[in-house]
Amino acid sequence: MVIHLHGQAADVERIARFCQKHDLRLIEDASQAAGASFLGKKVGSFGNISAFSLYATKNLATGEGGIIAFNNPSLRQRLSIYSNNGFYQGEVKEPLGDSLRMSDIHASIGSYYLKHLDELNDKRKDIAQYYNKRFEQLPILILPSSENNVFHHYNIVIKRDFPFSFQKAYSFFYKKGIRIKQYYPYTLSSFFKSNPSKTASFLTKNAFCIPMYPSLQEDEIKKIADTVIDYFGGSKS
Ligand SMILES: Cc1ncc(COP(=O)(O)O)c(C=O)c1O
Repeated sequence: MVIHLHGQAADVERIARFCQKHDLRLIEDASQAAGASFLGKKVGSFGNISAFSLYATKNLATGEGGIIAFNNPSLRQRLSIYSNNGFYQGEVKEPLGDSLRMSDIHASIGSYYLKHLDELNDKRKDIAQYYNKRFEQLPILILPSSENNVFHHYNIVIKRDFPFSFQKAYSFFYKKGIRIKQYYPYTLSSFFKSNPSKTASFLTKNAFCIPMYPSLQEDEIKKIADTVIDYFGGSKS
């Protein structure tokens, strides 16, 4: 399963080729990257099955719910049966299932946002471009790449040389009225009590996200960028 994290398309074409070679099925989790492309093809169109969460914070949202995309038409009936308590066209087809139908109201919100998805993603990209430009002067930061990215989050990684404490940074930003967030503060291995990889451990501690959503106003974006620059000792001029 490949996850297009933070809105950044993963190198899914290479992974798809690997799966083909080894006769593996590929699942794409495109929940954070609706509208992103890789090599000119939309994410969610590479996998055998692809999932999109439509939770309220997502680039494409209905409030709650999701979309499953697939390239094998026989899956349509199975998924439909499963999502409707085992029923299909009024008959019980399977003893097992769940009640996972999307309401028309949620679907209509989604249809509206689907029409505006590219435009909303472009706003995110503009904000990211501004952040990237302002933070160029801070070599301590690893900034997100703009390539194939629809910026669900703007995730900043801080290089090892800076003594970063998320709690301290959080208080600093909070006092300025800015909420920063660490989305993934645990490694997968911490749940299995195995040894985490050094890179994974590092990324749980040395990364954080600053606000990123299409309705951010110019003065807010500037204030956020100024505060990041203040925190990491750059110059605001
Ligand atoms: C990458 C990813 N996958 C799956 C999910 C789960 O989505 P949902 O809460 O709609 O089931 C999320 C939600 O945050 C997500 O970001």
